[in-house]
Amino acid sequence: MRALRCHAFDQPETLSLDTVPDPVPAAGEIVVQVSAAGVNFPDALMVMGQYQVRPPLPFTPGGEAAGVITAVAADVVHLQVGQRVVVFTRTGAFAERVCAPASAATILPEAVTSEVAATLPLAFGTAMHALIDRAHLVKGETLLVLGASGGVGLAAVMIAKALGARVIAAASSAEKLAVCQLHGADACINYSSESLRDRLKELTGSHGPDVICDPVGGALTEPAFRSIAWGGRHLVIGFAGGAIPSLPLNLPLLKGASVIGVFWGAFEQREPAANARHLAQLLEWVAQGIIAPVVSARYPLSNGAAALRDILERRVVGKVVITPHA
Ligand SMILES: NC(=O)c1ccc[n+]([C@@H]2O[C@H](COP(=O)([O-])OP(=O)(O)OC[C@H]3O[C@@H](n4cnc5c(N)ncnc54)[C@H](OP(=O)(O)O)[C@@H]3O)[C@@H](O)[C@H]2O)c1
Repeated sequence: MRALRCHAFDQPETLSLDTVPDPVPAAGEIVVQVSAAGVNFPDALMVMGQYQVRPPLPFTPGGEAAGVITAVAADVVHLQVGQRVVVFTRTGAFAERVCAPASAATILPEAVTSEVAATLPLAFGTAMHALIDRAHLVKGETLLVLGASGGVGLAAVMIAKALGARVIAAASSAEKLAVCQLHGADACINYSSESLRDRLKELTGSHGPDVICDPVGGALTEPAFRSIAWGGRHLVIGFAGGAIPSLPLNLPLLKGASVIGVFWGAFEQREPAANARHLAQLLEWVAQGIIAPVVSARYPLSNGAAALRDILERRVVGKVVITPHA
């Protein structure tokens, strides 16, 4: 089969399209024919050797995929060849077929396409874990989402609306904000042309946002935190902007506010049942039309590097997928 392979930690353009042996499921595993693989910022970081985890070389990147089961190990009894599933694999999904632990597979309802399902585990899973388990966001609260048209950002916009929150989307262009509005954002801030703090004051008065979803970091974190509500929760999700910011510790003191770390990868490993419940809820919301994940571009395996490059250069809205058999 064909697989996109990383032979050295380097720029995405150094990935090569190799022919490799078909995967064979070990005990407890299944093989999935990949209809679509979700592409995420951490995939690009992993290829460049800048992620927390550096897999042994060579490896096939790609952490999530959806498609049809083509093989199951003898000890796997709850899944069958021919079923359509979504899997989280950490690596290996940018290929025609991928091996996954049977425990990491979820059967898809008919109403959910494989393409949409492939976008759910990481970005939507992170936003669910962040808003529900970490921030305890409740109906009527105001959520500020930075990088709101990105993978995690747009997922947070949709999930927060489903939970009944008021959502302020913040992003770098009018086009990106238009997509956020289409998916339920109640108000928008263009942080390329407007002052984040002034606009937050206009939009929330002296209250400020109750919860801040921050997958961007850099120069946005401190002004956002300075505007947070009394008792607010600032979710530290990632640093797509490049710089890891620091915060004067008098600020959380003065606001009675919390800075809350979010690490979905560890949550998924430590609390698989809770993560599975989130994924089931997401699939139900998609099937009911309550959330509508955006797949803004599809790439063949041979052009997988372009998907990673588009993410790194801020060109992606929502999610993009690799479709190895299209
Ligand atoms: N903690 C966790 O468990 C967890 C899980 C998943 C992802 N993450 C991290 O969260 C971050 C976002 O992931 P994602 O998948 O949502 O990425 P994404 O789809 O690329 O979105 C990131 C957003 O950040 C903004 N941004 C600002 N400066 C940027 C820059 N220099 N380069 C790229 N984007 C920039 C962009 O919006 P504007 O152009 O509008 O500013 C972009 O839409 C990454 O750092 C990722 O590693 C963490």
